[in-house]
Amino acid sequence: MAGGYKYFAAIEKHAGVLGIATAIMVSIGGLAEITPLFMRAHEVKPAPGVKPYDALRLAGKDLYVREGCYLCHTQMIRALRAETQRYGHYSTAEESVYDRPHQWGSKRTGPDLSRVGGKYSDEWQSVHLRNPRAVAPESNMPGYPWLANAKLDPAEITQKLKVLRLLGEPYTDEDIAQAGDAVQGRSELEALVAYLQRLGVANEPAPAAAAASAPEAAR
Ligand code: HEC
Repeated sequence: MAGGYKYFAAIEKHAGVLGIATAIMVSIGGLAEITPLFMRAHEVKPAPGVKPYDALRLAGKDLYVREGCYLCHTQMIRALRAETQRYGHYSTAEESVYDRPHQWGSKRTGPDLSRVGGKYSDEWQSVHLRNPRAVAPESNMPGYPWLANAKLDPAEITQKLKVLRLLGEPYTDEDIAQAGDAVQGRSELEALVAYLQRLGVANEPAPAAAAASAPEAAR
């Protein structure tokens, strides 16, 4: 006991040694928490109802990225009551397995969009995207009028599906064969609206699962 105390006193009296010892202990604690999360990340399976994007919505998702919508909108509902009451069930990793790159984000100039699908009509969405102030007079969101005039490129979208299949997305030969026709003659605006209109629609965690894992209940 006395010997142990001697080392302890020595460490306590030397700020440098104490600092190093503290850093080592904090690192061990940190690793113990972080490592299992990294291992789990590879095991995340899509939630029931979560499917890879069809051709049109995949194009829409890439436009969402191209236009930088994520700079003002998150797709990440935090597990806080104020958030779940406003936006719905909090986001889970299982919902975004097919998002490459994920669109969680952290900057909200506008509202979270993870469950915006079906909140408005297609017509509202396309008017809003062309000129937000036509439907939300005080909005500071920029308009994206060029989307309505730009047509999608069927060859490009087909290629994207093929590449995503290489990366492990479960697209079938049929999905790939039909991708070009699905976007032929469609505008970028249509693709973006189709993407928005499905956000959170089929993949919101089921109420039973939600209740079982509700953070309020767990804490
Ligand atoms: C400069 C920040 C900014 C950017 C960039 C931006 N938005 Fe917005 N967005 C807002 C704000 C602020 C609102 C709330 C006012 C409104 O409805 O226009 C909003 C609202 C929305 C809504 C309605 C959400 C709801 O629940 O009412 C949708 C849908 C939307 N934005 C989609 C997009 C898309 C798609 C893009 C990219 C093409 C985009 N936004 C880019 C700021 C932005």
